[in-house]
Amino acid sequence: MSQPAATTAAIPAAATAELRAVEWSGDHLRLIDQTILPHHFAYVEIRDTAQLVDAIVRLVVRGAPAIGAAGAYGVALAMIEGEREGWSREQVLAAVHRVHEARPTAVNLAVCVDRVLPHLDAGLPAVLAEAAAIQREDIRANKDMGVFGADWLIARTGLTRPLRILTHCNTGALATAGWGTALGVIRELHARQLVELVYADETRPLLQGSRLTAWELDYEGIAHCVQADGAAAGTILRGEVDAAVVGADRIAANGDTANKVGTLGVALACADAGIPFLVAAPTTTVDVATASGDDIHIELRDGDEVVNYGGARTAPPATRGHNPAFDVTPGRLITALVTERGVLDFGAGELPGSHLA
Ligand code: MRU
Repeated sequence: MSQPAATTAAIPAAATAELRAVEWSGDHLRLIDQTILPHHFAYVEIRDTAQLVDAIVRLVVRGAPAIGAAGAYGVALAMIEGEREGWSREQVLAAVHRVHEARPTAVNLAVCVDRVLPHLDAGLPAVLAEAAAIQREDIRANKDMGVFGADWLIARTGLTRPLRILTHCNTGALATAGWGTALGVIRELHARQLVELVYADETRPLLQGSRLTAWELDYEGIAHCVQADGAAAGTILRGEVDAAVVGADRIAANGDTANKVGTLGVALACADAGIPFLVAAPTTTVDVATASGDDIHIELRDGDEVVNYGGARTAPPATRGHNPAFDVTPGRLITALVTERGVLDFGAGELPGSHLA
């Protein structure tokens, strides 16, 4: 695999909400390299499907909706590559399949690739148009769920003062086509001057919370702090949090929800404290074909990510790391799901599929 070209860039002057983690640029895909934030800002140029698969696996691009958008453009990359290399149709489809399978947990990747693939025979402009439509729809969905989610949190907490919100992992513009899911709800609350403080869980082992969420919050001037994941339950039970808002990678038909590892602990603490635990995700993350969380494939990443920190080993040389990238929060621990279609009250027995009808 040839290495993708990297261009160091100044951090754009635009608000982080307007950043585009995934963007088609003439004949290639341009990604913000999320592995080097917050200290460096650079774009990488992705020109073939092997580079794209590698970028998805290494989390250069990450977050369920963002990898969905990248996967959609992956169909275009396979077509261009196939033309360049003289591939058969089967070889193009095999390359698309490798993109489809690059990460298993977030359903958005498969959904977006499968949505674009039928346009293959209509040619590259049709494929690119469908991928661009996915991006536009995701940004619209994020903005809509931000408003629904903020309205719901205000009504549900019954508080008239600014809220103290806990979030886990990164669900902002970097994780989506733009704006953000759970972070979109927080942006909307902030626009209404209703955020007192955001607790951003650090998100071990790859630090999406401290590297990416704190970067987006800092950039927007939203009051925040980063806490170790292990601090979250105590912060919640001490009464320092009004509600938790998280994203999702796959929501099963019964409401069980896969999200970044550590989310389950947050949900358990919220249930014990009796505060709302809100999941914010577009309907593209709802997978009614998956009956329950038991059927969700949880990505098991290299254990070395856990037993190393900042390039140095933290555990004895022979110690293995255990590194599930996600966990499943049972639907019974989720107060509500907000999508672009509104809020589903899980506590009242509303199920995710009713948003897809
Ligand atoms: O491994 P990551 O960084 O891709 O995990 C991301 C998450 O778990 C997010 O919470 C989820 O994808 C929702 S992003 C809007």
